[in-house]
Amino acid sequence: MSTAAFPEGFVWGVSTSAYQIEGATTAGGRGRSIWETFSADGAEACDHYHRYREDVRLMKDLGIAAYRFSVSWARVFPEGSGKPNDAGLDFYDRLLDALLEAGITPYATLYHWDLPQALEDAGGWPERETAHRFADYAAVVGARLGDRVDTWFTVNEPWVAAFLGYGSGIHAPGRTSPADAFRAAHHLLLAHGLGVQALRAAGAAKVGGVLNISPVLTPGQVGDPGRPLSEEDAEAVGRIDALVNRQFLDPMLRGSYPAELLPIVERTAGLDHVRDGDLELIGRPIDLLGVNYYTPLVVQAQPSEPADPTYPGSEGVLFCTVPTAVTAMGWPIVPGCLSLVLRRLAAEFPGTELMVTENGADFVDVVTGDGIHDVERISFIEEHLRAVRAAVQEGVPVRGYLVWTLLDNLEWADGYRRKFGLVHVDFATQRRRMKDSALWYRDVIRRNGLLESRPKRPTLETVAARAGVSRATVSRVVNGEASVRPEVRETVLLAIKELGYVPNAAARSLVTRSTNSVALVLSVPRQGGDQLTAAVVQYVTSVLEGAGKQITLMLADTAESHRRIVQHVEARLVDGVVLLPPDRGDTLAERLSRTGVPVVLLGKPAIASLVPYVDVDNAGGAAAATEHLLAGGRSRIGMITGPLDLVAMQDRLAGHRDAMRRAGRQPLLAPAELTRSSGAAATRRLLGDEPALDAVFAATDQLALGALQAAREAGRRVPEDLAVVGFDDVDAASAVVPGLTTVRVPVAEQALALARLLLSRLEGRHTESVALPVRLVVRESA
Ligand code: FCB
Repeated sequence: MSTAAFPEGFVWGVSTSAYQIEGATTAGGRGRSIWETFSADGAEACDHYHRYREDVRLMKDLGIAAYRFSVSWARVFPEGSGKPNDAGLDFYDRLLDALLEAGITPYATLYHWDLPQALEDAGGWPERETAHRFADYAAVVGARLGDRVDTWFTVNEPWVAAFLGYGSGIHAPGRTSPADAFRAAHHLLLAHGLGVQALRAAGAAKVGGVLNISPVLTPGQVGDPGRPLSEEDAEAVGRIDALVNRQFLDPMLRGSYPAELLPIVERTAGLDHVRDGDLELIGRPIDLLGVNYYTPLVVQAQPSEPADPTYPGSEGVLFCTVPTAVTAMGWPIVPGCLSLVLRRLAAEFPGTELMVTENGADFVDVVTGDGIHDVERISFIEEHLRAVRAAVQEGVPVRGYLVWTLLDNLEWADGYRRKFGLVHVDFATQRRRMKDSALWYRDVIRRNGLLESRPKRPTLETVAARAGVSRATVSRVVNGEASVRPEVRETVLLAIKELGYVPNAAARSLVTRSTNSVALVLSVPRQGGDQLTAAVVQYVTSVLEGAGKQITLMLADTAESHRRIVQHVEARLVDGVVLLPPDRGDTLAERLSRTGVPVVLLGKPAIASLVPYVDVDNAGGAAAATEHLLAGGRSRIGMITGPLDLVAMQDRLAGHRDAMRRAGRQPLLAPAELTRSSGAAATRRLLGDEPALDAVFAATDQLALGALQAAREAGRRVPEDLAVVGFDDVDAASAVVPGLTTVRVPVAEQALALARLLLSRLEGRHTESVALPVRLVVRESA
């Protein structure tokens, strides 16, 4: 078979980081890092500190040419500064010797997010001093290990360290201050500049930095990157690109901040922390830029959208989820964006050598008797490698590609449940087992390329076509059925082997003794809710498929269909059920819950303890909507309630009532069905009962759209005479004139939470229902 080759000398490898694999957090006098303080997970991780020899051997067996690891600052300086700890440095001595002996080139990162706790106690990255302590640390490590490290990286993904650590607080140290986040970002850059200087002074030949680069696109550009943008969208894309990518690229590679970033930094954090000379230092030449790529950022302009706490300065920008395939992390899989990133860097920073220092994926793996058949991970890496190759063929200077990561490990705030490794780790025994992806990667390295003709992911169809039989026959062979003639069986098995087809679901089912099927049960689509439900179905399906489940969609629209579904589940033809949305009266949920098969529900059922569910904070959203109207000076507020046999409607009513009571006002209610015309009729009734009515809160957007129509017909101006607020934020809400103020329900997050809830239940873990926050989106109607 012909090979899609990579250039000679292309560097193949893997990346890891200290905190995520080393464990032994107190061994050899190591000090505490912010991650032990922040995270509840024990930090034994992969015990690599004691098992590094075995791990180096694994890499050698795979033919790995380059290994990027990180040095734990707290091992070298337990208190962050002062006297270096020799025992800590000794560990890296041993590791480097083992690597060199195995013929593996060491790439070392100095800072992969594990700040010594003592330095955080002294103010952490928002303090300038931390960058100077980093320079001292770089000098010591450079002097001690510099003779054996090939390439040095200063900091890993400073955007994540600054904005997740100090902005949204999702990462250690867990602070939530936009000002601190910008200051931290600058000081991480300064640390990079000082680090480069210190390493060079210690004799280092090759030094670089590692950035996470996410192309920023609108939803429409995901499938069509060249699509032209409206002025508003172009501004939104440019601003987020400045915050996430250029905030770091420009200082490092040009010695300046992007012009549109500075006003944002200034109004959030001031600019005192940026001193004369800093940018010049940060922009000193480097030899290599490490690029970590996982997924794009998808945004669009959305006036009056508040800033997302992870992206201070993102007012008026909506972060969108796109219905593409996703990994188990929920990250959209868009390999083409890796070519985009590489091309862009080559065009904007000509002469800079690039290396893909991280790329990989979390999928749910199943350990079977004959291995771990992680076909999803193989296709993920393969498709991304094709994207790298496309860029290389156009002349983009890419030195190599490092998979994230060698071992399943401790994935920061997500703990041990994420599986990014080529090698599986059983955390009870620390036993390592190569997954199919590891063996596949070994072959890629051996041939320095991919197989040109291997179909992206061989399917039942490709096997059937190759063997000249039907799909049913292939599946009978795979399932070991006796009814297939021996010659046919032979042909099919040969085709399976030649194509490298892994009968994944079947193999899993045999070992796990489960069907690996999940029923997605849709109760009668209700008018108005369809759009949201359709989106939830799309996301849930994608996440569960990413986790290796097969989805059977079942429509629960008649009594007969209910009976059939219950029978199907009782017969254990599925392992689990996702039921959405809750049917009136919960009879189906109740019947399904009695089958003993795990069931999860979208929306709180009437009997809340029935089955675990994912819901949104309906009462809180309604209260926020009502308070917004009250704060705007409205005093005669009517509510269109929607049908009150639906629990969500009851909760929205309760939230509205509470807010009115707190303001000392009487509620004024009009029930309605869930249609636009019913909303219009209810508004006419409200206006008839209360001619001085000055606001309407509708329990759904469809009802609110009806209210806008009735207001227009009655000659009331919105918002001057009558303010209108809805709930759900369907597409139409932003498109009407005036734009509808409404409560946003996080659709993709609900779907993700629902899929995760089911996966936890299938793994037999304890689960609790989830209530997600909602957010008021203020537009012109109120
Ligand atoms: C990157 C980090 C790495 C790992 C992967 C999944 O952002 O650098 O440590 O967490 O994501």
